[in-house]
Amino acid sequence: MLERAVTYKNNGQINIILNGQKQVLTNAEAEAEYQAALQKNEAKHSILKEIEKEMNTLVGMEEMKRNIKEIYAWIFVNQKRAEQGLKVGKQALHMMFKGNPGTGKTTVARLIGKLFFEMNVLSKGHLIEAERADLVGEYIGHTAQKTRDLIKKSLGGILFIDEAYSLARGGEKDFGKEAIDTLVKHMEDKQHEFILILAGYSREMTHFLSLNPGLQSRFPISIDFPDYSVTQLMDIAKRMIAEREYQLSQEAEWKLKDYLMTVKSTTSPIKFSNGRFVRNVIEKSIRAQAMRLLMGDQYLKNDLMTIKSQDLLIKDETAAHEKTSQPV
Ligand SMILES: Nc1ncnc2c1ncn2[C@@H]1O[C@H](COP(=O)(O)OP(=O)(O)O)[C@@H](O)[C@H]1O
Ligand SMILES: [Mg+2]
Repeated sequence: MLERAVTYKNNGQINIILNGQKQVLTNAEAEAEYQAALQKNEAKHSILKEIEKEMNTLVGMEEMKRNIKEIYAWIFVNQKRAEQGLKVGKQALHMMFKGNPGTGKTTVARLIGKLFFEMNVLSKGHLIEAERADLVGEYIGHTAQKTRDLIKKSLGGILFIDEAYSLARGGEKDFGKEAIDTLVKHMEDKQHEFILILAGYSREMTHFLSLNPGLQSRFPISIDFPDYSVTQLMDIAKRMIAEREYQLSQEAEWKLKDYLMTVKSTTSPIKFSNGRFVRNVIEKSIRAQAMRLLMGDQYLKNDLMTIKSQDLLIKDETAAHEKTSQPV
C-alpha cells in the first residue's frame, strides 16, 4: 500500500502529500517512487512466489495447487482486514486427501506443512505420519491416550492419518471408534494448533464419511488425487532422473514409455502405485547402470550420467508384476 497520496498535475509534475506536507516530484522521482511501491508489493508476495516454485516441482495436481493459492489469498486478505479493524475469519484447515497409492498424498502433506509454516499458519510445519496401529490401543482408555499423545506431537504441524477408514473397521465395539472420537474432540478444541489430514482410497474415504456423518463438515477441504496419465508419469520420471543428476538415453525413454503404457493398461487402477512405481523402476535402473559400468570399467562423466535401455530391467518387472496382480 502506498503511504503517500499521489496526485497528478497537468504540468507533468506529481504532487505527493507526505505527512501532510506537500512535495513536488519530477517525473524521474515519481518513476522511482512507483518502482519502489511495485517492489514492495513483490516482496509482500514473495512467499506466494516461493510457494508456486515449490508446487511447480510437482507434475499435474491442478486442484491442489489452486486450493493452496486460495488459502494463501484468504490468509493475506485476512491480514488486510485485521489492519482495517474488520472481523477476521478463523476457518479450520483440516483436510481430506482422496486417491490411489503413489498419487502424491504424503508428498503434498509434507509440502503443505512447509508452506503453512512459511505462511505463518503453523508454528512448526512438521508432518507426523500415522496409521491405525499408531492410534488404536489394546485396552479401554489406551486408545484415547495414544491418540492424544500423537496429537500432542503434531501440535504446530500436521497429523497425517493414512487409510483413515481403517479406524472404523471393527464397528461400534472396536477401539478405532475411540480414536475417531478423540480426534474429533481435539480437532475442534485445538483447531488452530494443528491440521489433521485424513488420507486414503477415494471410495473407502467416502464410505467412511457416510458412516460418520458428523465428520464431513469438519473437513472443509477435500482434495482428489487423480491417477497419472502415461505422459505425466514420464514427466515425473524425467524429473526424478534429472534431480538425481542422471539422464535417459533416447531408447531408454521410449522403452520406459512403452512399459508404463503396458503396465497401466494391464493393472487395476487401485493396484497401480503411480509415482511410487516410477520411482522404484528408476532406482532399480540406477543400480543396474552401476553394475553395468562396474563390469565395463567405464566411468566417463557421460557414462556415469546415462541410463541406457538395457538398464531398465523391464522384462523381469513385468513378469513379477503379472504374478502379483493375478487374482487369488
Ligand atoms: N505430481 C508428482 N510430481 C512428482 N513426483 C510425484 C508426484 N506425485 C507423486 N510423486 C512421487 O511419487 C512417490 C510416491 O508419492 P507419495 O506422496 O508417497 O504417494 P501417496 O502418499 O499418495 O501414496 C514419491 O516419490 C513422490 O515424490
Ligand atoms: Mg502415502
